Amino acid sequence: MVGSKKIGLIGGGNMGEALIKGLLQSGHFDTSQITVSDISRDRLTYLQENYQVSTVSDNGKVARAADVIVLAVKPQQMGDVLAEIHGQVQHLPLVISIAAGVTIAAIEQVLGEAVPVVRVMPNTPALVLTGATAITGGAHASSDHLATARMLFESVGLVVEVDESHMDAVTGLSGSGPAYVYLFIEALTDGGVLMGLPRPVARALAVQTTMGAAKLAASSDNHLAALKDQITSPGGTTIHGLAVLESEGMRGMLMEAVEAATQRARKLGKG
Ligand SMILES: NC(=O)c1ccc[n+]([C@@H]2O[C@H](COP(=O)([O-])OP(=O)(O)OC[C@H]3O[C@@H](n4cnc5c(N)ncnc54)[C@H](OP(=O)(O)O)[C@@H]3O)[C@@H](O)[C@H]2O)c1
Repeated sequence: MVGSKKIGLIGGGNMGEALIKGLLQSGHFDTSQITVSDISRDRLTYLQENYQVSTVSDNGKVARAADVIVLAVKPQQMGDVLAEIHGQVQHLPLVISIAAGVTIAAIEQVLGEAVPVVRVMPNTPALVLTGATAITGGAHASSDHLATARMLFESVGLVVEVDESHMDAVTGLSGSGPAYVYLFIEALTDGGVLMGLPRPVARALAVQTTMGAAKLAASSDNHLAALKDQITSPGGTTIHGLAVLESEGMRGMLMEAVEAATQRARKLGKG
């Protein structure tokens, strides 16, 4: 049962905190199961005070005690961390990496061939249990290991399983995607302000519209174009707005943003 496993988090930054918060809020984990290590003492104090999880500054200690190790440091910091915990994983814990671009082979090469590794790409809406996470298993990750990773991240949202060759694309889409959406919401808000709405009203309407449209899309099997057509009457307001978005190239811009982020993830992975 994943709910009784000891989870050791190495790196308690943005994503580490999102996971801690999500796991605790899900009700499937309690504070006694979660230990986090981080290079920053201030960060550990913050996490201890706000989430009552155990904190240590020694990554090796976390690695030795955990059934599941979650590596939540930046890709550039991964080499140091792997070198530090190499030799502390003889008990063959499940090692989950959330680092963008870092391949399973690179982790297995340092930690040893027998260590079960699952590579995961979550996103920050895990903080509000609405994350989108892709998982993929290494050579020694059994279906049980994948199920454990799936249950862990299903505590904080949706999980899909993909081939590792698709992980960089997942990074470019759902890993970085929340930032694209914030930009969209901010611009929508500014549009409302431009048209005379008070900013708090414009922001509330922009956020709720984005959330509502996303919920509708999630609950429908219809093509997205059909959902769009439902609110696009001939010669009406919506088609006038859409005509501007199309002529300014919004679709192409978003596609290129995903492409650029994917390529960056690939580059980071190559070190
Ligand atoms: N943020 C996202 O939206 C997102 C989404 C999907 C995946 N990811 C992946 O998640 C990982 C973490 O991202 P993040 O945004 O959470 O980064 P972050 O906020 O920088 O968190 C990393 C934390 O690890 C600490 N750290 C650095 N070196 C360490 C070491 N040797 N041992 C222990 N802790 C160490 C950092 O401390 P210092 O700040 O003092 O260096 C920081 O507190 C990345 O690999 C990223 O690719 C992030």
